[in-house]
Amino acid sequence: MTFPGGRMVLGTSGFTKYNDEASSVAAIAAALDCGITTFDTADSYGRDRRGRAEEILGAVLAPHRDEVVLCTKGGSEFDGRPASARPDRIREALLGSLRRLRTRWVDVYLLHVPDPDVPVEDTMGALTELVAEGLVRVAGCANLGPEDLERAVRAYPGMGCVQDELNLLSRGAEARLLPYCRSRDLAFLAYAPLAQGLLTGKYRSGRQPAGSRLDRMGPERAARIRSGGAQARADAFAGLCARREADPAQVALAWVLSRPGVTAAVAGASGPEQVRNNAAAVGLELGADFAAEIDGVVTSWPDLPSPRGRSPSPAPDRSHADTSRR
Ligand SMILES: NC(=O)c1ccc[n+]([C@@H]2O[C@H](COP(=O)([O-])OP(=O)(O)OC[C@H]3O[C@@H](n4cnc5c(N)ncnc54)[C@H](OP(=O)(O)O)[C@@H]3O)[C@@H](O)[C@H]2O)c1
Repeated sequence: MTFPGGRMVLGTSGFTKYNDEASSVAAIAAALDCGITTFDTADSYGRDRRGRAEEILGAVLAPHRDEVVLCTKGGSEFDGRPASARPDRIREALLGSLRRLRTRWVDVYLLHVPDPDVPVEDTMGALTELVAEGLVRVAGCANLGPEDLERAVRAYPGMGCVQDELNLLSRGAEARLLPYCRSRDLAFLAYAPLAQGLLTGKYRSGRQPAGSRLDRMGPERAARIRSGGAQARADAFAGLCARREADPAQVALAWVLSRPGVTAAVAGASGPEQVRNNAAAVGLELGADFAAEIDGVVTSWPDLPSPRGRSPSPAPDRSHADTSRR
């Protein structure tokens, strides 16, 4: 499957949630300026109103529609209704996304999160139809465990794309999903490659810059993100980057992009400077020595629980799925 997008994707889950409309618009403009033409969103993104992130993208990108690649997702809570992967709800969700994105088709459309009440085969049936109708170019799934993923692929062999979390502090997908995606020629989009900012170095030694995401999300959630050894690993990683005189965000992104089977990194940004900075990670070669040092740093606390309470084994890993069904 040829993924229609680039290696760096601008993520938009923070739009109007952690950053305001003006900085969201500026981030999109900066992305286009520096050659990032792939955008990831979902019908559920937006703080006061779900769908707002799609509306912002639609407004800015409509004149550029033929030059950009739009990925969106459906199946999570929307308009006061609970999440559902029922075929009729998926179709309805996509039609809403097309309206808000001001487009006749999306390049990539993903089931946002599995629904225990709906067989994944039924959902894939709906996605198959949407592709056949030309409303979706490539269909796929996010946040599926390996068994559900295999069932989904069996139901829809044309499936082209998988999205899940992967970063230096959360590596479950490396063993759990990447080998399968490679064997099936499925594009893998790695979300939260910066561990929501923890890997950028700005939270080093417990710092919490005013206005940053961890600052805005409130103490409990921020403490969860720093927990389980994540802060210590991120500090050690930042220290290593400082010694190497390298930018931690760029290194964290380059590391994700260097994983065999990773097609693209989906990175959020709260403004244009971050977008420009992060864009430079594409093409950054870490080299074998640096990569080995990074590996040593993030795996050198075997006695600590894995970040955010996750099992280090290849178990389902959905604590950062940005939907309400968790
Ligand atoms: N499918 C799913 O269930 C799912 C789940 C999660 C995410 N996603 C997708 O993946 C995207 C990325 O995930 P994410 O935004 O949660 O996490 P992320 O990409 O790991 O972190 C993004 C945040 O890190 C900070 N940051 C980014 N670049 C920086 C830099 N150069 N220097 C300093 N700080 C920087 C910014 O926050 P501040 O500046 O505010 O601190 C930014 O919003 C989402 O936007 C969404 O599109 C999908």
